[in-house]
Amino acid sequence: MTAIFIAPTMKPDPWIRQFKNIAPEVDFRLWPDTGNPDDILFAMVWRHPEGVLNRFKNLKCIASLGAGVDSVLSDPELPLGIPITRVIDPSMSQSMSEYVMLAVLFHCRQLDLFKTDAAVRQWKPRIPMQADETTIGIMGLGQLGQDAGLKLSMMGYRVNGWVRKSRKVEGINVYAGDDGFGPFLSSSNILICMLPLTDKTKGILNKNTFSRLPRGAFLINVARGEHLVESDLMDALDNGSLSGAFLDVFQTEPLPRDHPFWLRTDIIMTPHISSLTNPKAVVPGIIENYHRAISNKEPLNTINRNRGY
Ligand code: OXD
Repeated sequence: MTAIFIAPTMKPDPWIRQFKNIAPEVDFRLWPDTGNPDDILFAMVWRHPEGVLNRFKNLKCIASLGAGVDSVLSDPELPLGIPITRVIDPSMSQSMSEYVMLAVLFHCRQLDLFKTDAAVRQWKPRIPMQADETTIGIMGLGQLGQDAGLKLSMMGYRVNGWVRKSRKVEGINVYAGDDGFGPFLSSSNILICMLPLTDKTKGILNKNTFSRLPRGAFLINVARGEHLVESDLMDALDNGSLSGAFLDVFQTEPLPRDHPFWLRTDIIMTPHISSLTNPKAVVPGIIENYHRAISNKEPLNTINRNRGY
């Protein structure tokens, strides 16, 4: 009955507390104090060091402690044939939707300009972008993308979504595949990236994509830094094809101190906090998966390794 926590960038205490409260029967081990690696049946991971999972010969499930699994799948020594799960939780959707709504309103209500005005004590009323005249394009309609899209449509925005295969989604006008990408982009005044990171989506926020948006569009990236070609963003801002960007994720995190983004007033940045995993909310689901895995049942929220999410 042994589970290991391998998440070097997360504080373990809240997780330990939750496990002690809800599942005291689980022998909760904290990497690198693995004890006998053959005892380990279940691994909870976030940005784990490559190759460590290979040591656990009796592993039955790998549970990502975030919504994304790209840092699990990028391990070249990832053991084969073991189910991988991700976190799907309403508290994460709520948190992500709040962030996305904030970024949209920040842009539409021109808060950056009011801040600049205030710095020179200038009283200057500005006309906001009207919600019903603004089209928001969401790339990726997983749980998080759908929740944000529905909430933005309830706020009165026109919401388009772009997905791999066409399907109906409440409140969202769906475009699909390569054929749908052009029309999706050409109508998006605000582009939000909520895609999983895969070989197909890496670098998708590039100069070609930006050139197909209406001039002066605004970019919000809450997915992964690797979706964005950072130099293309700066060029697009400089030549006016984009008017600004709101970024939560970066190619290198923490963002290096000498990174050019720090100097730009047209890029708003936050340190990867749009939707943090809340241990209290997600531990019950992880424990359920632990019990399913050790009794050889299919865990919930399993990802498809070939698809990459
Ligand atoms: C996640 C994240 O994938 O926080 O959950 O990036």
